[in-house]
Formats: sequence, structure tokens, C-alpha cells
Amino acid sequence: MTKAEQLGAVAILVPADFSDHAVARIDRTFNRIGIERADPALVTDEMRRAVRGIASFAGISAAMMDALPKLELIASFGVGYDSVDVGHAAAKNIMVTNTPDVLTEEVADTAIGLLINTVRDLPRAETWLRDGSWAKKGNYPLSRLTLRARRVGIFGMGRIGQAIARRLEAFGLPIAYHNRRRVEGLSYQYHDTLKGLAEAVDTLISVAPGGASTQKAVNAEILSALGANGVFVNIGRGSTVDEAALAAALADGTIAAAGLDVFADEPNVPKALLGLPNASLLPHVGSASEHTRRAMADLCVDNLVSWFSDRRPLTPVPETAHVKARP
Ligand code: NAP
Ligand code: 8YV
Repeated sequence: MTKAEQLGAVAILVPADFSDHAVARIDRTFNRIGIERADPALVTDEMRRAVRGIASFAGISAAMMDALPKLELIASFGVGYDSVDVGHAAAKNIMVTNTPDVLTEEVADTAIGLLINTVRDLPRAETWLRDGSWAKKGNYPLSRLTLRARRVGIFGMGRIGQAIARRLEAFGLPIAYHNRRRVEGLSYQYHDTLKGLAEAVDTLISVAPGGASTQKAVNAEILSALGANGVFVNIGRGSTVDEAALAAALADGTIAAAGLDVFADEPNVPKALLGLPNASLLPHVGSASEHTRRAMADLCVDNLVSWFSDRRPLTPVPETAHVKARP
């Protein structure tokens, strides 16, 4: 059998609606098997016998892994992989890959756009023009907030956090950050607690991953530490925020405004946030350009190709980096 024939025999499960570009590449290279969603109840005998890889936007549970005894690799589409049970994958010798780097600059661009929208109220100013208010009522009111003289704190100074910081340096704003560990070689002020960071700044940008260690980390105490001139932007994961506490803080003036691209239960956005004039809301579009989603799709599929032809991943997540391909 040629290498291409060998790859063509490898069954890859693709749940739900997936990237068209990734699906086209998987169809050209592998034996793609579709499934409505990543639900073990939908796994057929054929899938159980054949599936060796999964390519997925969606989360993959321990039960889904257990339902597929031949599973070797989960190629996750996106850099965040909090919805994949990586602990279970590592224990079962299943490799998990993600799509880092190729989306970093796009997500940082979106974060800056969201920050400016939030502070300068630009979406509502555009509505003022489009609905005829400019002609009927005159100039749009001055924005209450400005980026000038702000001090920015970044929660999650990783790849995307650093790309956001580079942009904000050009804006002339001082930057500080919180991670569990100080980043070698970065001159920005480091805070070893999120509370310490929130007390030191008036603009907090969260780009931390989801998962147990960050669950509702941005809570009433952190928002109160940010203060009445405070602006909170979340481009990381909705699960890192206590959304009820955030809505209350926006409503009672504990902080001034928030810009959110991510929510705890997407696509459901809490009513309390939808009703607030000082919240600028986006439907998780951080990486959502055709250019960047194509690059993510390519990296997702390149991981499948590399694993099933050379028996090594290109971008393994740290938790499964030790996993070796089965002979
Ligand atoms: P990364 O390079 O791994 O950066 C994550 C940073 O968060 C690291 O510096 C890490 O430092 C810090 N961190 C992790 N857990 C922490 C904790 N418990 N407390 C404090 N800091 C913690 O990842 P990235 O590529 O920048 O992506 C970051 C996240 O952005 C992704 O995981 C994803 O959730 C989100 N994202 C969202 C979009 C979107 O469309 N809105 C797009 C892409 C990514 P330490 O390990 O030292 O703590
Ligand atoms: C994508 C993301 O929207 O990469 C991430 O972690 O949140 C986004 O880039 C998502 O992964 C698509 O499923």
C-alpha cells in the first residue's frame, strides 16, 4: 500500500458543523465519518471499530473517548482546549493537539477593537448615524470614558496576552500582568495575584484559558478592586468570570464598562448583560476571519496528517506531550 492509500484508510470522526476547508482536506486525505455531535450515544459499531482520530470544534468528553477504543488523536480546532478532557486523554494514551500561534495576532486585533468600542462607545455612535439621529438630533454625545491615561492589566500574559501588550505599548499605555508564573524577559510589572493586579490598574483584559484553575476568577472582589473608572474586557473564556457579579457591578457603578467576546454558556448571553448600556458584546469572533480560520483549519488537519504519516504531532497540548504513537 502507498502512504496515500494508508492514510486514505484511516477513519477520522468529524462531529457537527466543521470548517469547510478542513472537511475538504480531510475528505481528500482520510476516510471521514460524520456524526451529528460528539455524543457517545450516537457512536455506531462501525465508528467503534474504525475511528482513530477526531477533528473537532466541540468538546470531547471522557465518555466519548471511552466509546472509541481505537482513538489515538483528538485534533482540536482552536487554541483553547478547556472543553476536551485532556486528563482522561493523557491517562488513555490519546494525543490532543490544538492550533496555537496562527490566531494570535487576529485575536489581539479583536481585543483592541473591543477595548476601543467599550471605552469610546463606537457601536452606539454608528447606530446614531445609521438611524438618522445625527441629522435629527445633532452630534453624538461625548464619550464618558477615554483610553488616555489608563493603566492596563493583562490576566493571562501568554501568546495572545503579549500580542495585546505590544499593541497597547504603541498606544502609550503602561502595562502590568498576572500569570501563575512571571514571564522571563518581559519588562511589564508582574503581580503574583489577580487581586493585586486589579488594584494596580483601571483596565483589566482577560485572555486567560478556561478550566478549573480560572473558574469565576474575575468575581465581585476583583471588580471592586478595579474600581469605579474600571473597564473589564474578556477575550479569553466566559467561564473565568462570575457573570452575575459582573452584571451587578456594571449596573451599580462598581466598574464603568465591560467589553465581552466570550460567555460562560455560549451562545446564550445572560439577559442581565444584554440589557446594560455600558456592556459592549461580541459573539465570540476573536479569531473569526476567513484568513485566520483557514490557517487554524490547516494546522488542525496538518496535525492529523503528521500523526498518521510520521507518528508525531505538530502542536501537542502540554498535558499529552508525552503520549507516544502506538506501534
Ligand atoms: P497561552 O499562550 O497558553 O497563554 C495563557 C496564559 O494564561 C499563560 O501565560 C498562563 O501562564 C496564564 N494562565 C493559565 N492559567 C492561569 C491561572 N490559573 N492563573 C493565572 N494565569 C494563568 O494561550 P494563548 O494562545 O495566549 O490563548 C489564551 C486563551 O485565549 C485560550 O486558552 C483561549 O481560551 C482564549 N482564546 C479566545 C479566543 C476568542 O476567539 N475569543 C481566541 C483564541 C484564544 P501561567 O501558566 O504561568 O499561569
Ligand atoms: C475559536 C477560540 O472561536 O481558539 C480558541 O480558543 O476560542 C476561537 O479561536 C474556537 O476555537 C472555534 O471553535
